[in-house]
Amino acid sequence: MRTKIIAGNWKMNKTLEEGQALVTEIRGIVRDEHTGKSQVVLCPPFISLASAARLLEGTGIALGAQNCHFEDSGAFTGEISPLMVKSTGAQYVIIGHSERRQYFGETGEMLFKKTKAAIRHGLKVIFCVGESLKEREEKIFFKVVESQLQEGLFALDRKEFSSVVIAYEPVWAIGTGLTATPEQAQEMHNYIRKVIGMHYTEEIAEETTILYGGSMKPDNAAGLMAQADIDGGLIGGAALKARDFADIIKAVG
Ligand code: PGA
Repeated sequence: MRTKIIAGNWKMNKTLEEGQALVTEIRGIVRDEHTGKSQVVLCPPFISLASAARLLEGTGIALGAQNCHFEDSGAFTGEISPLMVKSTGAQYVIIGHSERRQYFGETGEMLFKKTKAAIRHGLKVIFCVGESLKEREEKIFFKVVESQLQEGLFALDRKEFSSVVIAYEPVWAIGTGLTATPEQAQEMHNYIRKVIGMHYTEEIAEETTILYGGSMKPDNAAGLMAQADIDGGLIGGAALKARDFADIIKAVG
């Protein structure tokens, strides 16, 4: 049985105080309502990691960063290393989000280095892949996602790969209100699982958690989750509202 995960990607939102308030609110609702069958992960901005870690102690809710550098330390002004992320109490890090690829020029080669370094420090990596609208219209989405997996992940050995969670996030669905239909998402998730099976083993593919991301909301989460290869969600906008996030957690189960 693979682990189901609901991860909240807060992006560049919430001050330290606002972040503490949101963590506290989510913590309360999760305590009262969550079955505990799936793993909840909160990914606030770096500034909130350490305080969130304290608030989440003993709750079963995990914590993640949204990015990290690939070196442990050094002259990289403005960057945060995986070692530093780990030291806050975080267990996860998102790598390769389309906004990082698009606005910060992160390449497949850099993402591989980041992933490898994060895993070396004992972090689990939520590795994002997904095609643009143009790539979907040109019907090259399978090829695009396959090459993102190839460049960013497939040089990991089997043991390293066991620390990877994949998030399929079609760029055209992120923050747009447009969601992939459950069938479109399932088609890609199934393809991703097949490609993993070809590069590693079928058993590894079966065990890999594959999340959907892109305008996942309380009202579409159940339909997505009903698909065989969708194992949870990476939630942006709806993760900033405790009630919506909790309702998505409920739909995931
Ligand atoms: P969204 O973002 O849920 O706001 O579309 C998802 C993401 O970018 O991870």
